[in-house]
Amino acid sequence: LAPNKFAKRVISWQRQHGRHDLPWQQLNHPYHVLVSELMLQQTQVSTVIPYFHNWIAKFPDFNTLANAEEDQVLSAWQGLGYYSRARNLHRAAQYVVAECNGQLPDLPELLREVPGVGPYTAGAITAFAFDKPAAIVDGNVKRLFARYFGIVGDLTTTSINRQLWQLAENYTPNHSNRSYAQGLLDLGATICKPRQPNCDECPLQETCNALATNRVDTLPTAKRK
Ligand code: ADE
Repeated sequence: LAPNKFAKRVISWQRQHGRHDLPWQQLNHPYHVLVSELMLQQTQVSTVIPYFHNWIAKFPDFNTLANAEEDQVLSAWQGLGYYSRARNLHRAAQYVVAECNGQLPDLPELLREVPGVGPYTAGAITAFAFDKPAAIVDGNVKRLFARYFGIVGDLTTTSINRQLWQLAENYTPNHSNRSYAQGLLDLGATICKPRQPNCDECPLQETCNALATNRVDTLPTAKRK
């Protein structure tokens, strides 16, 4: 399917069937998006939601977080694990206040300079907070692309990662980037699941390589040990 048609299907599916009630989607404020994306790096949505609400109540903006004491910050993170994310978020707020005039940058290259922001998170912030074009590739998107494009091989290798990022770049539309990015994540989470995906509800079923070749259950290929 041509990239613009692929994007159109993802976007219209997202608008009809995707998630619209996540707390960080209510304002799409750059600070809210940064907090949620760091929390979501290693933790599932349902666990993150109450922590997100509590965090925003305690540290409502970059300034408040930048000026908070580290033990306050770590105690609000208590239970989420991987505490380096909390320290990075604290340092990120200090960086935005000190180096960016209190405004999170809106380009992936600049976002990569922010503590705790890797390639996925930089793209996610660009799309979710600013509704601008950016490739986003996380575990869910990798699985969806591996199936849709019929990519065989270990998804953790450098060459396959490069291939997946290139595809993600090529298929990123130049409009509706927030809906497109959310659509890819939502499809990965609710339709193109690791086991027993719901192909008959998928907006991409007619052109999915794995479905056409009966490889939905074997793609992505299991990691070699
Ligand atoms: N995982 C990371 N970002 C997400 C988002 N905006 N919605 C759902 N899951 C996510």
